[in-house]
Amino acid sequence: MNAKPIGVFDSGYGGLTILEEFRRKLPQYDYLYLGDNARTPYGSRSFELVNQFTLEAVRYLFGQGCRLIILACNTASAKALRNIQQQYLPSLEYNCRVLGVLRPTVEALGSLTKSGHVGLVGTQGTVQSGSYPIEIQKLFPDIHLESEACPMWVPLVENGEHESPGASYFVKQHLDRLFQRDPLIDTLILGCTHYPLLINQIRKHSPPGLQIVVQGKLVAESLSDYLQRHPEIEELCSKGGSCRYLTTEAEEKFEEMASVFSHTSIRVEQVHLNPL
Ligand code: DGL
Repeated sequence: MNAKPIGVFDSGYGGLTILEEFRRKLPQYDYLYLGDNARTPYGSRSFELVNQFTLEAVRYLFGQGCRLIILACNTASAKALRNIQQQYLPSLEYNCRVLGVLRPTVEALGSLTKSGHVGLVGTQGTVQSGSYPIEIQKLFPDIHLESEACPMWVPLVENGEHESPGASYFVKQHLDRLFQRDPLIDTLILGCTHYPLLINQIRKHSPPGLQIVVQGKLVAESLSDYLQRHPEIEELCSKGGSCRYLTTEAEEKFEEMASVFSHTSIRVEQVHLNPL
């Protein structure tokens, strides 16, 4: 039988923080990770480009046998997921799904915030898309959301500078702005899969008692639940416990940086995505 791995896609390394939790929670499945490192970051790119790049990645992963793909990237989930679900998937001849990370994150908010004031930190693209407020409005219309775009955070992480004084400076700058705008925030969404690497800096510059929403476990929990509720998709996912990694950039660079994001040692293959 050919492997039909669960596809996990991110613009770069950030999705590895999600994949790690998938493998912990659901080790029986095969996984295929794709990082579009050659074109990262997506956060500052236009709606059209994020759509185009994400669709190219999704098509590639379907071509590799995936029938279920998780966009382990908030920017791609915020800007491209709806389009892919509504425009692209119906044109395919086989049964397949693409899911994102926003919905599982938002679902968790109801049991976390007491003040009803929630903060979001994310890329420019995620914040400007307005997708988080739309999802929150659907599930928890009484929650007040205050968002802060942090364009420097992903480049700092991608360059291995997440523990540096520079990272501390930029984390403090954005969190100060956010909490000045709304001092009642008691829950903070890390709305970018790169940000768990900045958690020490974020804790250091946050008010005491703040609940910090890290996505990995929530998304893994939600995937597990999804697979139980959708046996027709679950049975399409092969169960060999394997994990392969693909990148659009140089292999050596990915392997070196990936060890910062993931606790396992990683061998990666470079691939080229076909332009639309
Ligand atoms: N990891 C991606 C996210 O969750 C963003 C990184 C980027 O800007 O490419 O939004």
